[in-house]
This record gives sequence, C-alpha cells and structure tokens, in this order.
Amino acid sequence: MIPVTKPFSPPIEEYIKLIEGVWKRNWFTNNGPLVNDLELKLKDFLELKHILYVTNGTVALQLAIKALNLTKEIITTPFSYVATTSSVVWEGCKPIFVDIDRETLNIDPNKIESAINNNTEAILATHCFGNPVM
Ligand SMILES: Cc1ncc(COP(=O)(O)O)c(C=O)c1O
Repeated sequence: MIPVTKPFSPPIEEYIKLIEGVWKRNWFTNNGPLVNDLELKLKDFLELKHILYVTNGTVALQLAIKALNLTKEIITTPFSYVATTSSVVWEGCKPIFVDIDRETLNIDPNKIESAINNNTEAILATHCFGNPVM
C-alpha cells in the first residue's frame, strides 16, 4: 500500500495526560474545556472573529450551506469524499459537477466559469491530497 498521507500523532505521554483530565472531569461531549481552549487557540492563530467546532466535516458543510441560505445550485468536484456532495443534496441544493484537473486532482478552475448560470449560488471546492485549489 502507498499511503497518500501520514497521520501526525502526539507523544503518547501528552495524549494520556489530556485523556486523564477528561476522565477526571467526566465530561465527554459539547462545550468541554479542551474544545473551548482549542477553539480559542485556533481563532487567535487564524485571526478570526468567530469560530465554531462541530462534530464532523459533514455538519460543517451543512451549517455553511444553511448559514449562507443556499437553496439552488452549488458547483463542486466529483472527486472528493461523498459528504461533499451529500451535504449539498441533504440541504436541498443541486450539485453541479465540474471536471477535475489532471495534475492536482482538484476541481479545474478553468472549467468552472462555463458551469455558472443564474441558479449558481456557490462553488464548493475541496483540496485534494494536500493540493490547494488555486
Ligand atoms: C472533502 C471532505 N468533505 C467532507 C468530509 C466529511 O467529513 P466527516 O467524515 O468528518 O463528516 C470529508 C471526510 O473525509 C472530506 O474529505
């Protein structure tokens, strides 16, 4: 097998310390101190006004679609995890697929314009295997 990515794991001792704190607090879900701390750190690092962690990427996409009140067509890539498309469909929008670039495997920016019409409300691109969409 050829791995396309390698996961980063912190030293196990650091991880166990954090896990012990979770066990002591007996708080496993929403709004726990570790999540709040990480939200603040990432908000500062990215110099954002607001930040909200959610359960997973699917929920994040669905929230973004809801927050933007999207109801029509969203241009996206056919080469992504299924949630990229299912979140669009679950929010009642129509995915419009634009072919990918042979080198980056991302949506081909040169093909997007011809897919835009009066129903287009957004472009949902994903960065494939660490290649940023340009
Ligand atoms: C591009 C992309 N979008 C959405 C998702 C969905 O994320 P989750 O499995 O956390 O819901 C993934 C998950 O791998 C993803 O790679």
